[in-house]
Amino acid sequence: MSDRQNLVDTAEWAALQRHYQEIRGLTMREMFRLDNRRTEFTVEAAGLCLDYSKNRITSETIQRLVALAEACGLRLAIDDMFAGRPINGTENRSVLHIALRNRSNTPVLVNGKDVMPGINSVLDRMSRFADSIRSGEWVGHTGRRIRNIINIGIGGSDLGPAMAYEALKSYSDRNLTVRFISNIDSTHFVEHTRDLDPAETLFIVASKTFTTQETMTNAHTAREWLLKTLQDSASVARHFVAVSTNGPAVREFGIDTANMFEFWDWVGGRYSLCSAIGLSLMVGIGPERFIEMLEGFHAMDRHFFEAPFAENMPVIMGLLGVWYGNMFGAETHAVLAYDQYLHRFTAHLQQLDMESNGKSVNKKGEHVGYQTGPVIWGEPGTNGQHAFYQHIHQGTKLIPADFIGFMRPRNLLGDHHDKLMANMFAQTEALAFGKTAEEAAAEGVPEQLVPHKTFSGNKPTNTIIADELTPGVLGALIALYEHKVFVQGVIWNIYSFDQWGVELGKALAKRILGELQSENKPELTHDSSTNSLIMRYRNRRR
Ligand code: F6P
Repeated sequence: MSDRQNLVDTAEWAALQRHYQEIRGLTMREMFRLDNRRTEFTVEAAGLCLDYSKNRITSETIQRLVALAEACGLRLAIDDMFAGRPINGTENRSVLHIALRNRSNTPVLVNGKDVMPGINSVLDRMSRFADSIRSGEWVGHTGRRIRNIINIGIGGSDLGPAMAYEALKSYSDRNLTVRFISNIDSTHFVEHTRDLDPAETLFIVASKTFTTQETMTNAHTAREWLLKTLQDSASVARHFVAVSTNGPAVREFGIDTANMFEFWDWVGGRYSLCSAIGLSLMVGIGPERFIEMLEGFHAMDRHFFEAPFAENMPVIMGLLGVWYGNMFGAETHAVLAYDQYLHRFTAHLQQLDMESNGKSVNKKGEHVGYQTGPVIWGEPGTNGQHAFYQHIHQGTKLIPADFIGFMRPRNLLGDHHDKLMANMFAQTEALAFGKTAEEAAAEGVPEQLVPHKTFSGNKPTNTIIADELTPGVLGALIALYEHKVFVQGVIWNIYSFDQWGVELGKALAKRILGELQSENKPELTHDSSTNSLIMRYRNRRR
């Protein structure tokens, strides 16, 4: 485990704190008067442009943050990840989502073995399978064409492909219905299958472990649903495929491993979209579009690996998060995409960021003495403007936000897109520069209303723009956030690639399920609150 110097004891941390004290009172109005921020604080990579000028930073801030990153060994950490070293220390695993989209196909070694041939072979199998569904060559048990694809998975085996399918829907085959069932709540299954014909439906059971309670329960229910109509257990072979690292469990479920798409333990769930976990997406948009997405991921990976830190988009975004979280005490971070197709983007980022960096012990197992990962939240613009933006503009909390938008819409309709983008640009301007009491008064605002109609401004935002939401741009965007999370994990000296915090609840749920279902109603030995909730459920559920 790491024997790095404690973050807060480094000279770079102390220097950053001193710098924070010096500039915390500066406003963006003042900063924008001083220098040409727009050119200084803009970086372009992989089809994305990041304008980070509307932040409470000066050139010195970036220098000091970069110095901190260097002191924390970020360069070595990036090299370790790309070289396949086992940086997931608590599980002793490599972390190689970058290999899944390594379009240059250079060897990537895990324990001396090149993983690229395996990755390419699974991609080829996925492509053949996706094409066979899309062309109608793969038919159901009764000979009918498959028209409905249902991905059954949860967490990383759901959020990534579901988000990306929604994001790239305009590229999808609209003759296919692609749906995602994740929740253990039966409503999810019932509502997503009620209008479907089992003879035309194929389930992709996606689970890294193939033991996850929600996924296995939904998969068993799906099998019953299918067999109720098709009445032949042989039909499972034409209507179920699996995506997993666990061949024996797939076989035990009754899926022929010839219909299993493999991935590997060095792919974390929340980083698995580019693996076979993306199969439902590939069926929806086709292999060529899927590969275009991988190319976008790869372009951002290369940028992250190669660009100097001060010009490196994920590094800059990661460091800005450290600046606000650790110096200004910001606890949340909003991600506001001005594109309806990205309406599940923030949900995906919630798992990506919060499952990775929601940790409170460092690599030595000691309690960290500083803030780590923020709460990630957000809704698409402009909807959010009519809901929670009031709080960002005039609330008491500092909420750094990312605004994401595109120059060209996927659906050109009247002047909708001009209005959408006008709103996005207006919000970042309003948040940065606000409106003073004098300005409000000069507009004729009655004196007693002036405090209510004043905007303090100085609210930090990043603006991320691209020409159009293409598969490649989506890939670059997701990779940008993946690497941002990585950078922050390195600075905070935490293990970003495990998720032990989900285990306790899972174990307790298992125990309580036994207590709910056991005929002889075992004595309850929880706390009084939990006991009473269980009793009430037992007494009233029927
Ligand atoms: O419970 C959390 C988690 O382990 C996530 O990390 C993961 O993405 C999800 O469950 C699903 O796991 P699996 O793909 O093994 O079903």
